[in-house]
Amino acid sequence: MKHLGLISMIAIAGLLSCSKAQTVPFSVIPAPNEVTLGEGSFNIAGATFGIDDAIPEETAAMIDGFRGQLSKVSGRNSACVKGTAEGGVSFLLNENLGQEEYALNITPSSVVVEAADYNGFLYAVQTIKQMLPAAIYGSSRVRGPWKLQTASILDAPRFRYRGILLDCCRHFWSVEETKRIIDIMSINKLNRLHWHLTEDQGWRIESKKYPKLNEVGSWRSGTQVAYDRESSDSVRYGGYYTQDQLREVVAYAAERGITVIPEIDLPGHMVAAVSSYPELGCTGGPYEVRKSWGISKDVLCVGKESTFKFLEDVFDELLDIFPSEYINIGGDEAPKDRWKECPVCQKKIKELRLKDRDGHTKEQYLQNYVTKRMQDYLASKGRKIIGWDEILEGELAPGATVMSWRGTKGGIAAVEKGFDVVMSPNTYLYIDYYNSMEYDREPLCIGRKCLPVEKVYGYEPMEGMPEGGEEHIIGVQANLWTEYISTPEHLEYNLLPRMSAASEIQWCSAGNKDFQRFKASMDHMREIYDILGYTYCKYMWGIVGLPGHEQPARSREALDTIDIKTIEKGTYE
Ligand code: ACM
Ligand code: ZN
Repeated sequence: MKHLGLISMIAIAGLLSCSKAQTVPFSVIPAPNEVTLGEGSFNIAGATFGIDDAIPEETAAMIDGFRGQLSKVSGRNSACVKGTAEGGVSFLLNENLGQEEYALNITPSSVVVEAADYNGFLYAVQTIKQMLPAAIYGSSRVRGPWKLQTASILDAPRFRYRGILLDCCRHFWSVEETKRIIDIMSINKLNRLHWHLTEDQGWRIESKKYPKLNEVGSWRSGTQVAYDRESSDSVRYGGYYTQDQLREVVAYAAERGITVIPEIDLPGHMVAAVSSYPELGCTGGPYEVRKSWGISKDVLCVGKESTFKFLEDVFDELLDIFPSEYINIGGDEAPKDRWKECPVCQKKIKELRLKDRDGHTKEQYLQNYVTKRMQDYLASKGRKIIGWDEILEGELAPGATVMSWRGTKGGIAAVEKGFDVVMSPNTYLYIDYYNSMEYDREPLCIGRKCLPVEKVYGYEPMEGMPEGGEEHIIGVQANLWTEYISTPEHLEYNLLPRMSAASEIQWCSAGNKDFQRFKASMDHMREIYDILGYTYCKYMWGIVGLPGHEQPARSREALDTIDIKTIEKGTYE
């Protein structure tokens, strides 16, 4: 009893010391673009929420979800009324604001939130939540104080496409884990999930028209587990999402302001497909779903009309599930070796009168033909294509969007030619790379390449872009490939906090970025990660390694004395 009494006294002392603090220091990530902080605060616990009649039903439901959460964790019920809530929190439609923009005016006596669309209101709510104690994200009742600092905020994103790529092919992530990624994206105001759904190592979409894509293509008989290509664990591995599950993820993401953009990578990275239907390849096989990483020479045989029928059927199924305007058709790393040898592909090249010219082979122009056919097919269904920067080589038809991944040069070249671009350079935004140079203390990652959070943060998408090209940079994306990432903990460790850093590249105007301010704000974001149970890399806080393997990070001086090449790759996976 005595012991319990002591614990409650400590708890009460904690609450009292906590209630002395008026508000949480302003530490919103991504940092809002125009903020004026004032004196005093507004106590939001128990405040009435007013929702303008003109606000659409699903937006009102999202706002009401926040009201419910606040009531739960504060223990004080917030009522909901129509229209303005005198002395409360009013959500008002303001069609003069732009897409995803919001205005937030917090005074000691009221809060007014204005936006023109769903995402605008969602982001206002996310900002309010980050201005409150991290307990707002939890499920326990906490005394608070639930005070918002007086502030006037006008905020809108720098880029309209703010994405993360998630590779579910090299390793497969449950619907629940995928939803966790979506949750943390939404908290950081990202709005595009590029879902890499097909690969040499596994086909992850249920196909009702082509069942072997799942019976054969979704499974491999082992997985490369170290840098050695032969290092297979010989364990059957795989899975796929049913069409219902895919729809569930699309709907879940939409509620969180996120559009899911599916990728079917073609004509390369198709070994899972040709293993399922060997007639789709140039040699006829046999093929095997790949167990190792890297690039395969076995690509689709595009000399055959039946290959296009297959692709159109697959896209038909896909379009029925994914309403996104953009569809990613891949296009990267498609060796031309098989096409050079294949009589059917060579016949097609003759028929199309393709020639080697301008430094590109006729086989490269054959890939351009494939891209254009897919572009036209998807355009006939009201969709637009995005592809990796290889689609720019040779010829690319107007209307395509290029995703620059081999550094920034592809993006710069695309902008020079007038294409829209999403920048996702491996030099800054490949978050499958190590979080630090401490390769012996980190979980195994791809290559011996590292991108610490500071380097990610420092990326400036307009650097090197031609004058006037800004309007073509529609967005920025960080890519989470998963060759060496096999557990949800490792997935989240590679994602966080680098995704939060990427969110400031995507959201903040160039003049509003400041790594020291970001680093200070990360203390609060880290509490949010903790309360939601995310695993994250603590390198910013002087620690490396996954939970259970954490160690103090080496000092800068110590790192300078080490020949990085001699540090052994991750040793504990
Ligand atoms: C890529 O990383 N192959 C797009
Ligand atoms: Zn062929």
